[in-house]
Order: sequence, then C-alpha cells, then structure tokens
Amino acid sequence: MQQYAANTAPATTKGNDQLQQAPGQKSGMDKIRIVGGKRLEGIIPISGAKNAALPLMCAALLTDEPVQFQNMPTTLDDIKTLSAVLQEMGVIAATPAPDALILHAKSMTSHIAPYELVRKMRASVLVLGPLLAREKQAEVSLPGGCAIGTRPIDLHIDGLKAMGAEIELAGGYVKAKAPDGLKGAHINFSKVSVGATENLMMAACLAQGETVLSNAAREPEIVDLGECLISMGAQITGLGTPEIRIQGSEKLHGTVHRVVPDRIETGTWMIAACLTGGTLKLENARLEHLAALVGPLEEAGLKIDSDGKDIIVSRNGRPLTGTDIMTEPYPGFPTDLQAQFMTMLTLCVGAGMVTETIFENRFMHVPELNRMGADIRVQGNSSIIRGVSKLNGAEVMATDLRASVALILAALVAEGETTINRIYHLDRGYENIVEKLGRCGADITRIPA
Ligand code: EPZ
Repeated sequence: MQQYAANTAPATTKGNDQLQQAPGQKSGMDKIRIVGGKRLEGIIPISGAKNAALPLMCAALLTDEPVQFQNMPTTLDDIKTLSAVLQEMGVIAATPAPDALILHAKSMTSHIAPYELVRKMRASVLVLGPLLAREKQAEVSLPGGCAIGTRPIDLHIDGLKAMGAEIELAGGYVKAKAPDGLKGAHINFSKVSVGATENLMMAACLAQGETVLSNAAREPEIVDLGECLISMGAQITGLGTPEIRIQGSEKLHGTVHRVVPDRIETGTWMIAACLTGGTLKLENARLEHLAALVGPLEEAGLKIDSDGKDIIVSRNGRPLTGTDIMTEPYPGFPTDLQAQFMTMLTLCVGAGMVTETIFENRFMHVPELNRMGADIRVQGNSSIIRGVSKLNGAEVMATDLRASVALILAALVAEGETTINRIYHLDRGYENIVEKLGRCGADITRIPA
C-alpha cells in the first residue's frame, strides 16, 4: 500500500469519513433558525477557498504522483462531491488531517464523470481538460444549468477543440478524444470565464508546445491554481493578467499546496459586521483580494483595518448609507458577493442600485428579502433597493449558495425569528456557518429535518 507523509491514514479508494457523509450527520433538508438583533463580536477563521479548492483537486489528475493540499475546506459538500467524482475514476483520496487532502491519480480506472455526480456539482466539468490531457480521452456529463443561469461550457469546448481535441456532444455527455495528445494553441476568449480559463490552463500543461490564453480570467483562485501547477513543474507566466502563457511539459510531479483563503467568505462576514454593528476579526484573510469591496463598504459605513494576516471590521458609527455596485470579472466587484451586499442595502439610509452583469438570473434572493420587509424592485439586470427601517423575521427559502447566505445576513438583523429552508445550498459552500456565527454571539441553530 502506497505510504504517504507521516501520520496519514493509509490511502484507500473509499476516502475518509471527512469526505463521506457519516450516518446521522447533517441533512440537506435541515433548517436554520435565527433570532435577529444580536451584534456579532469575535473571531472568525476564514476557510480555504471553495472556488480554488475545486480546480486544484482536478489538477491532481495531471500527475501520477500524490498531491497534498492544506487549508482544504474538506467539510464542504462540493469538495466531497468532487472527491467522489475523482475516486470514481480511480483516484485515491486520503484526509490525514481535518483541513488536509491527499489525492493520488496513480492510475486511472475510468475517464468518465457521471451525470448523477456532475449534476450535483457543475464544477466537475473542470476534470475535462486535465483528464483529456492525461488520458487522451474524457467523457464528462454536461453540467446543465442551475438557479442563477444556463451556465454553458462552449468556451471550454471551443478551447479544447483549438488544442486538437475531437469533441462530440451525445446523450448529455461531452465525449472528448485527443489520440495524438493536445497541441498548444492561441485561444482568445470571447468573454471572461473563470472555469474555461482553469480548464484550458490545466490542459495546456501537458500539451505539446505553447498555449496563450487571451482575455483570461484574473481571479485569485486562478492565480492559486497556476501557482500550484508551477509547483508541480508546469511553466506558466501571466497569472493574474488577461494573457496567460503555458509551455507544455512531458509530465508533472506531485506537490504540497496550501489553498488560498476564501475571499467570498471574507467579504460575506465583512458585510455581516456592517449590518449587525459589531466588531469581527477575520483570521487568515487577504484584504488585497477584496479591493473592489473596500470602497463600497467604507462608503456604506464600515471601518476596515488589516495587519496583513487578519482583517478587523466594525461599524464606523455613521448610519448605513446607500451606494451603487455593478458586478464585473475580477478585479471588479465579485458577483458572488452581490446578494450579500444587496441585503446590506435593504437597511441603508436612501437607496442603492445593484447591477448584475455576469449571470442572467442572480436575483433569486429578492423575493425572499421582500418577504422580510425589504423594498427592492428588479428592472432587467438591475435592482433598485430603497432602504427601510427594519426587516421582519419570516419563513424563507434558499435558492442558491450565495442567495442562502444573503438570507442568513438578513435574519441576523431582522426583528424576530427567521427560518431558512433548503440549506443544502449553504452546506455546499460555507464551512461550519452555525458554529462560526454562534461563537460571535448570533442566536442561530440548525434544526434537524
Ligand atoms: C466560477 O463559475 C465560480 N465557480 C462562480 O462561483 C462564480 O460566480 C463565477 O466563476 C464568476 O466569478 C467556481 O469557481 C466553482 P464563468 P464559472 O465561467 O467558472 C458564461 C459560487 O457561488 N460562460 O466565469 O462557471 C457564464 O454563463 C459560484 O461560488 C459562457 O457563456 O463562471 C457566465 O455568464 C457561482 N460560456 C459568465 O460566462 C462558457 O463556456 C461567467 O462564467 C463559460 C461561461
């Protein structure tokens, strides 16, 4: 049996209980009940970024050596689902510590990512590029749409075709082959796509020759993935800029990589502090990844200090003031913080406007917030939020990951009790949310289904 670093459980293809749902544990049909009005005071440790962890896990397919991740948010359902997809293909998974994950794609036993897993977690499509590069073939279920939009993957497919892949769409699956291996190409994305940039950057690492990705995404999660690939022996320049160059390698080797902190979780708690009026210390957070949020939050009334490792946020004593935001690809205002920022605007003096330019249907939180007494009107891809004096607790329903946490924020400041249903959305992307908020004074409980 392959031995890993000291004090690690022997790797098994069944993975460890952190990655499997132990019986009697949380169920997706649980609810969360919050009694609003408590200030948040205390320390919140920021977890590793979900949106970095997912592509990083797929990068393990690019080598036959073990890849060890630290600061991995192993309790997230999305991480467990992707781990199951990889294990289905023969990857060995081990969790030697609560925030550690070792993936070893020593030899692949399958090159198929099945529908029943991909439909649960669309980022599984990120196995397409690395699997095709490594195995010269891949069969990945089309992920289908989700609550926030149709979520096509045409940019992923067109890019792989440009690298010489033969692609067939049949029976709801992408069937890709590259019998002679992938070849470097110059790919100019018609729009900025995080996933397409990640898929093609990974595929290019084992292609013959140079690949240039123009109009590439610049998110910190892309930079984190690129830095991990470089530590595996890949030759990549231009990370964090609109043009990324990758020189293909014969093979890549294993590595140990620490997942970048989650900027969306960090921004979520910064907004929470602005709403509840308390002081929060966000541990292991990277303020430089949230530059687009700082201006609007300070304008709205938040005091932000950072010592380079942690961020301390508190209300600055002024009333919450309305401001306008428009979501854009990084370094613009992140679409994944749009719903949370809108919740804050519901209680501002004056009004604010939120314009969503990335996804076509990302205002699902609006009707739920209005049921809590907010005054929000949607016009096309913009929402006008007129501040109200208070929100009222209510029975509400989560619709997608970020809309769910926007309802949590609303419940924290609403008068009375709020019950949030369908919190399986939350379990996908926020680690230990009840514990983290409860330890800071929130009156929050998880009610078993
Ligand atoms: C990633 O999704 C994130 N998910 C999303 O976070 C995030 O909202 C999004 O990037 C934008 O920042 C992960 O990283 C796992 P895109 P992704 O490709 O890669 C269109 C969350 O809440 N598009 O940058 O799927 C697409 O429809 C999630 O954590 C095409 O048209 O986003 C969208 O309108 C939600 N064709 C826009 O581009 C394609 O081939 C940006 O999508 C690909 C995308």
